Amino acid sequence: MSKTTGIGILGAQFAGKFHTEMWRVIPNAEVVAVADLSEKAREGYLKEYGPMKMYEDIDGLLGDPNVEVIDICVPNFLHAPIAIKAMEAGKHVICEKPFATTLEDGQKVVDVQKKTGQKYFYAEDWIFAPALVKAEKLLNEGGIGKPLFFKGKECHNGSHSPFAKTIKYCGGGSMIHVGIHAIGYFLHLLGMPEKVTGCCNGGYEDNFVHKDFEGEDWALAVLHYPGGQKALVEGNYITTGGMNDIMEVYGTDGLIRVDLTFGSPLSVFSKQGISYAVEKAEFTQGWTKPAVNEFESLGYKDELSHFLQCIREDVPQVKSTTAEAGFNVLKIIDAIYRSHREQRTVVL
Ligand SMILES: NC(=O)c1ccc[n+]([C@@H]2O[C@H](COP(=O)([O-])OP(=O)(O)OC[C@H]3O[C@@H](n4cnc5c(N)ncnc54)[C@H](O)[C@@H]3O)[C@@H](O)[C@H]2O)c1
Repeated sequence: MSKTTGIGILGAQFAGKFHTEMWRVIPNAEVVAVADLSEKAREGYLKEYGPMKMYEDIDGLLGDPNVEVIDICVPNFLHAPIAIKAMEAGKHVICEKPFATTLEDGQKVVDVQKKTGQKYFYAEDWIFAPALVKAEKLLNEGGIGKPLFFKGKECHNGSHSPFAKTIKYCGGGSMIHVGIHAIGYFLHLLGMPEKVTGCCNGGYEDNFVHKDFEGEDWALAVLHYPGGQKALVEGNYITTGGMNDIMEVYGTDGLIRVDLTFGSPLSVFSKQGISYAVEKAEFTQGWTKPAVNEFESLGYKDELSHFLQCIREDVPQVKSTTAEAGFNVLKIIDAIYRSHREQRTVVL
């Protein structure tokens, strides 16, 4: 085994940068190269993180013998084709959500992973967020009795990425882009639902706020599980004041509430505002709850550390991060959209 594992990041903007920051504090891994089509993004990355081997596209990373793992941080529609290309070239893959933008593409990724035997990691950070890991332990020890009803949401004021505006590039709207975290976490806790009921805005003029988004800017879904448990999932782009990530569980003997983004132990009152409080907050004057170790609280560090351990030590992969699991999350989202379109509950 090489002393450190060489990571090649594809995509040098928002996700590529916070992955870089996490890799820098994880032992035995090193970002050895980065690729991005945009010269501006490459320059911005170099300015922020110092000298780095830079390529324009995936082929540069695939041809680099020091790159063992491709960490995919490019827009959604590229996730499947890039993952396939990387695995066929003998690289392991870490892929940001969503798994793919169509079921057809998703199936191809599952097939290629099986055929090549390369490791594939579906990067759902909520599964590794320390507060959600703790909640899972408390649920498993029976701390709130039998869990009956789950609620999970990620909401903010709209994706900054131009690719998120078009279904062809993103796969949908706020449900596939942000509601997806709660779906991945509930898959981890509860397995596959047996049916789903979805209700979404219809995009463009039918949206509440984002009339230029082809996909919905507000979406809700009820996931119905065998045995009667239910989960309510929400993903919206109409939330002001900063990104809001909440998970709640109601049990026969208690309840659990996790606030991933406003649960900071730090409170600040500032007349003029501070440099940063929380992702997507519009301004920071007055009272804020500035995030402490934001990326670690959201799970990215423990997530990437686990993937690295699977690669280096061949430890078993958390099952809700496999290609099959990523594909299952996509199947649930597809069923939510179908349920909305057909105005009926969809059986999976
Ligand atoms: N887990 C999370 O909470 C989380 C948070 C943010 C983003 N993401 C995911 O990360 C991915 C990237 O999001 P982002 O916000 O960084 O997007 P972005 O639009 O800010 O950046 C994407 C970058 O990819 C580059 N790019 C596009 N096509 C490329 C290609 N063919 N080859 C090389 N580079 C290319 C663009 O030039 C751009 O610099 C998305 O799929 C998003 O869903 C996940």
